Amino acid sequence: MQWSLYLLILMGQCCFFTCCLYEYHFIAENKSWYEAQRYCREKYTDLAKVFDMTDMSRLRNSTQNQGEAWIGLNNTGGNRTWHWSLPGVEYIHNDSSWNLNGRTEPGPGNCVRKRDKLVDVSCDRTMWFICYDEMKKDSKTLYLITTFMNWTQAQNYCRSYYTDLASGLDQVDGEEMKTLFIGRTMSVWMGLFRDSWRWLDGSDFSFRYWDMELFNDEQSNKTCAMTLLNRSGKWSSDECDKEKPFFCYDDKLILIKENKTWEEALDYCRESHRGLVSITNPYQQRWAEVRAKNASSPFVWLGLRYACTLNLWFWVNDKLVCYEKWSSEGKTEDCGRAVGMMRGGPYEWVSQRDNKKYNFVCFK
Ligand SMILES: *[C@@H]1O[C@H](CO)[C@@H](O)[C@H](O)[C@H]1NC(C)=O
Ligand SMILES: *[C@@H]1O[C@H](CO)[C@@H](O)[C@H](O)[C@H]1NC(C)=O
Ligand SMILES: *[C@@H]1O[C@H](CO)[C@@H](O)[C@H](O)[C@H]1NC(C)=O
Ligand SMILES: *[C@@H]1O[C@H](CO)[C@@H](O)[C@H](O)[C@H]1NC(C)=O
Ligand SMILES: *[C@@H]1O[C@H](CO)[C@@H](O)[C@H](O)[C@H]1NC(C)=O
Ligand SMILES: *[C@@H]1O[C@H](CO)[C@@H](O)[C@H](O)[C@H]1NC(C)=O
Ligand SMILES: *[C@@H]1O[C@H](CO)[C@@H](O)[C@H](O)[C@H]1NC(C)=O
Ligand SMILES: *[C@@H]1O[C@H](CO)[C@@H](O)[C@H](O)[C@H]1NC(C)=O
Ligand SMILES: *[C@@H]1O[C@H](CO)[C@@H](O)[C@H](O)[C@H]1NC(C)=O
Ligand SMILES: *[C@@H]1O[C@H](CO)[C@@H](O)[C@H](O)[C@H]1NC(C)=O
Repeated sequence: MQWSLYLLILMGQCCFFTCCLYEYHFIAENKSWYEAQRYCREKYTDLAKVFDMTDMSRLRNSTQNQGEAWIGLNNTGGNRTWHWSLPGVEYIHNDSSWNLNGRTEPGPGNCVRKRDKLVDVSCDRTMWFICYDEMKKDSKTLYLITTFMNWTQAQNYCRSYYTDLASGLDQVDGEEMKTLFIGRTMSVWMGLFRDSWRWLDGSDFSFRYWDMELFNDEQSNKTCAMTLLNRSGKWSSDECDKEKPFFCYDDKLILIKENKTWEEALDYCRESHRGLVSITNPYQQRWAEVRAKNASSPFVWLGLRYACTLNLWFWVNDKLVCYEKWSSEGKTEDCGRAVGMMRGGPYEWVSQRDNKKYNFVCFK
């Protein structure tokens, strides 16, 4: 009885611990985009990057300012790459999903519709679309919306009422999608677009928050992105040598290149920083992988331990395991076990005796 109550409490805290990977800092000095970048790299990590709407909200909350401010996104000038609309889903090209001869209009389009397969079309076309809902009510995740909208409107609609436009080949080519097409011949928007904007550190974050009334992707000399705090933080672009305030971000994960047992690592992180790292979603996993690369030991400790008395894995920050990346033979459940992430690809988790000595990753 008591245990199940305890479990219930833990369950309530499941997932989405997104706060501590990086921190935003608003700098109220007027600088060109390039000077702003130099400043951020000296004092923090870099100009701010934004992963999703939660990040956007944190960014806005970090200042009272209501003007314009640079963020770390600029235009590479023409070379467009594909992104899924849903943050964190990586685009991997697969010819068999596309109908490359299916274009009904000249020239390449920057948004994608699906009939049998994917075809790129102009984003200002209007058509029905399919939203993805992460809540999985009655195990349903995809919803056909039979209202005509252009791609941006469709994306806004899905982000307001569901999670996002359908994203990733698992959704786009999956069984649930096929059932939506049964008995219908239709072309519908998918959450796939391409643009020539890139984050400064090369991360392939796909989140975009353009203010469509003020932003024009074709204005060739406005190649640096800014947020309009005045307009819910939506983005526009300007000439890079204009001087504006800006946002930096500060990386909150740090690799400690010392070999320690799991307990020692835990103590070290708690004393010198804010604790051993927890990973509750694929995005945090990728973030931690970048640190793990530089380790001098074959594994790096994570803040995940096996609670012998409860027969349960849990994170030292009291979160249950909602996201997992065990190696196929790596999930040995035994007393005195904690988890090390591999130093190199595929960066999987392997249960280890906690008296082994490895490098580790702390929250700063
Ligand atoms: C930055 O420039 C704006 C407009 O050019 C000005 O109103 C503001 O006072 C300046 N801020 C600082 C900190 O110099
Ligand atoms: C930002 O501030 C608003 C209002 O104070 C609050 O509702 C929201 O949760 C905050 N967002 C984040 C990510 O902290
Ligand atoms: C806020 O937005 C309005 C129009 O939306 C604009 O006229 C005004 O200059 C903006 N204020 C600042 C501080 O940027
Ligand atoms: C975007 O910013 C990067 C980093 O400062 C720079 O190397 C690149 O030239 C910029 N792109 C354009 C088109 O200015
Ligand atoms: C365009 O981008 C792709 C992927 O980022 C890269 O492989 C390719 O070399 C780029 N092409 C040009 C002309 O810059
Ligand atoms: C592409 O998709 C097809 C059919 O869905 C699949 O059989 C194939 O393995 C995929 N290819 C790659 C490289 O992922
Ligand atoms: C989509 O429609 C909205 C509202 O009519 C418009 O502001 C926006 O520019 C359109 N977007 C595209 C890509 O055509
Ligand atoms: C950028 O383009 C606008 C309109 O085309 C023009 O007025 C402005 O002078 C240009 N700026 C630069 C720096 O070339
Ligand atoms: C990893 O180490 C290399 C060389 O020592 C360094 O340039 C790089 O910044 C390090 N990366 C991280 C994420 O610490
Ligand atoms: C940590 O241990 C590994 C072997 O597991 C060793 O190769 C590495 O040099 C050690 N690193 C440090 C900083 O002592």
